[in-house]
Amino acid sequence: DGLNVRAKAAGKKYFGTEISTTVMNDANANNIAKNSQDFGQYTCENEMKFDALEPSRGTFNYANADRIVAQAQANGMLMRCHNLVWHNQVPSWVTNGHFDNATLISIMKNHIANVVGHYKGKCYAWDVVNEALNEDGTYRTSGSVWGSTIGPAYIPIAFAAAAEADPDAKLYYNDYNCDRAGAKATGAQNLIKMVKQYGAPIHGFGMQGHLTTGQVGSASQYVSNMQAFAALGVEVAFTELDIATPSSNPNFQQQATDYATIVSACKQVDACVGITTWGFTDKYTWISNSDPLPWDSNLQKKPAYTAILNAW
Ligand code: XIL
Repeated sequence: DGLNVRAKAAGKKYFGTEISTTVMNDANANNIAKNSQDFGQYTCENEMKFDALEPSRGTFNYANADRIVAQAQANGMLMRCHNLVWHNQVPSWVTNGHFDNATLISIMKNHIANVVGHYKGKCYAWDVVNEALNEDGTYRTSGSVWGSTIGPAYIPIAFAAAAEADPDAKLYYNDYNCDRAGAKATGAQNLIKMVKQYGAPIHGFGMQGHLTTGQVGSASQYVSNMQAFAALGVEVAFTELDIATPSSNPNFQQQATDYATIVSACKQVDACVGITTWGFTDKYTWISNSDPLPWDSNLQKKPAYTAILNAW
């Protein structure tokens, strides 16, 4: 029994976790990560990002990401591959390169062809474009070399390039603060329509789900939002779920209730294929001074673990 076992019994494809080589180097933490009863899917925390894979132009470094993919395969797990085009964690040779529109498009297409080609057949899904929207639902230009140099056309160009390199991977748009209806969720729906209008394939919408304990609300809000995306013909997933509570004054019971709310929402929507937490232990979380995950920093299960198990 475990989180993945229960998710699959509920008709989902996986319950998964983000993992890093740091976690893999911690034998006790990695023993939890390797348990396929709890996890049927991995996402690399940083190892597949642009700066990690192509640190200088045309030089690709796959060793760290390959280690994670190998552990997934050894344990019968799926990979969600993350990510191809994002404004963050782009190497300085790209951001400071002052490339013109045509050159930057060719750099992006070359990166996608190499990376997606390297992992062809090994990724259940690719987060092709990550966080392309502002909070008001408009396309991000400020701080994005892609948006400011190429404009929103980089988005369908990226999806078309990914489809060419691996026709079987599910191609996702992934973003935060789109988990419930609002201007940004509407923007994400417009983005999906735009990709289709350009004639490029898009198969999924990833809700990152970086949430805060006590502010999660009710399952019905997430259900109706997921259904609005499903109506566009895409599947959905929670791709980076964590529910922050302050380490100085944590509320683990409310956190457990909030995790159950998200699981219940996914369970109610056929188009929701699975849930990935952004890590599993508070020992390794990207949110400082917070205990947002189902295992504590001593690798013991928290109330959230049991709540997720029972909510499936
Ligand atoms: C985070 C990692 O967890 C950190 O280690 C890194 O310093 C910054 O990125 N949205 C995403 C993820 O899509 O890739 C981010 O991961 C968290 C927010």
